Amino acid sequence: MDSNKTSFYLLTDTHFVSKKSWVEGEPINGRERGDQIALKASPEILDEFIKKIIADTDTDTVIFTGDNVNNGDMNSHYDFRERLDRLKAAGKKVYVTTATHDYCGEGDDENIFHSCVYTETGTEPTPFMRKAELFDFYAAYGPEQAVSLHRESGSYAVKLCDAVKLIMINDNGNGRSHCGLFEDGVRWLTAEIDSSNEEGEFVLLAVHHPVISPFEVYRHMVDFEMYGGYKELSELMCEKNVRVVFTGHTHLQNIREYKGSNGNSFYDISTIALVNAAGKMRKVTIDTESGECEITSIGIDALDGVDLKSESVYSHLYHLNMPGALETLVPLANENYDEFLVKARGLLPVDMLGKHRLIGKWAFRKLAGAKLKFFMKFGKTKKLLTPEQREQIRGEALLPVVLEILRCIFPGNAPYTPDTAENIVISGVARRLDRIVNRFRIKKVLGLIPPGSSLEEMAQDFLYNNRTGSDDEITINLRGSGA
Ligand SMILES: [Fe+2]
Ligand SMILES: [Fe+2]
Repeated sequence: MDSNKTSFYLLTDTHFVSKKSWVEGEPINGRERGDQIALKASPEILDEFIKKIIADTDTDTVIFTGDNVNNGDMNSHYDFRERLDRLKAAGKKVYVTTATHDYCGEGDDENIFHSCVYTETGTEPTPFMRKAELFDFYAAYGPEQAVSLHRESGSYAVKLCDAVKLIMINDNGNGRSHCGLFEDGVRWLTAEIDSSNEEGEFVLLAVHHPVISPFEVYRHMVDFEMYGGYKELSELMCEKNVRVVFTGHTHLQNIREYKGSNGNSFYDISTIALVNAAGKMRKVTIDTESGECEITSIGIDALDGVDLKSESVYSHLYHLNMPGALETLVPLANENYDEFLVKARGLLPVDMLGKHRLIGKWAFRKLAGAKLKFFMKFGKTKKLLTPEQREQIRGEALLPVVLEILRCIFPGNAPYTPDTAENIVISGVARRLDRIVNRFRIKKVLGLIPPGSSLEEMAQDFLYNNRTGSDDEITINLRGSGA
């Protein structure tokens, strides 16, 4: 690699579950369905990515941004750390932060995770990580290489090369309603940015929780899932001209820009969970002369130790994602409602669906049979479509379009750009709903719509990448938006 370039890999939300922590059975399978990630294959998935990282001799740094294990159990922490040892033995510098899945809360901490092993019929408690023990457990992977350390939070700064400083923010906060730094941590972070700016170094931030909401509706629904103090950090980044923060937690591949009141902007590079069916890691390359920071994404196409049954890794794990499960569950609800209720446990509210069988059956029958043509009429968009698009809509079912939209939520890059028939029809429906919601002042819906926005505008977030063009790659100039 050119001497003026430095690069690293970023992996997040590895949600590692040790093979010692489960046996085959409904408890672990139900947990996978609920979490919609590949817990059972998490060791094989991480190993596959590690193989790729070790094979890249140009890149000597690897970072992990939390939710390294799934529920704080020690079996998983020991096995996960063994992987870090392997990377270190291969000559890689490894920097780790932790998040709420990495420990179990005690006392005032609001963390809700419980460490367990999954037996054939249930779960049993197992030794777990305490928050205060995390720092020492992972000290060899970040804190010991740090040029600056904030002991209270476990945050630290490392140098990627002379010209680039990476600040790894540990944002455990109180474990749930405030996942961010407390006052002293904010002071430390600000001083770290200031000292780099004085030295003329580039600064990158990495933190577990999102700083920019991946979809506008996300922060309106679950503000506490954002980085605690995200508004202040956003303004601070603009004020100090810090151009990039790498995040995880949402499990979404999503790149978004925030424009500050002083005219500066920065990007939140949110990376998909490594254990999603479409899991990827980011490769980040910084050219210290031009200031260009190039971000790409890399997935895996093999999974040693798992019988893929001639499928791709993605197809094999796709059933764990909500749309993958719905693809089988919707027809099943129409064929055999009892079996549907069993298979949907953990993913859908089966108790409610079992109690209201008639309504449930009716809804799934409607969903399976619905045609886009009906929605074209509802949204009054016939005149906006070309003759070819009208022909296309005539026979098109709603369900595959809904599943495609859901399928793209995690890996990003949904396909329905404004010129497509699907976008025109769905936008029309949202426009009509906007009129209804405003006319009847439906408060529950109005409360989810940000000021000045609309359901129509919010729908675009899910129909195509209306943000930066691609959720997989981008090049950002670290000197500033005008550089
Ligand atoms: Fe996570
Ligand atoms: Fe998380």
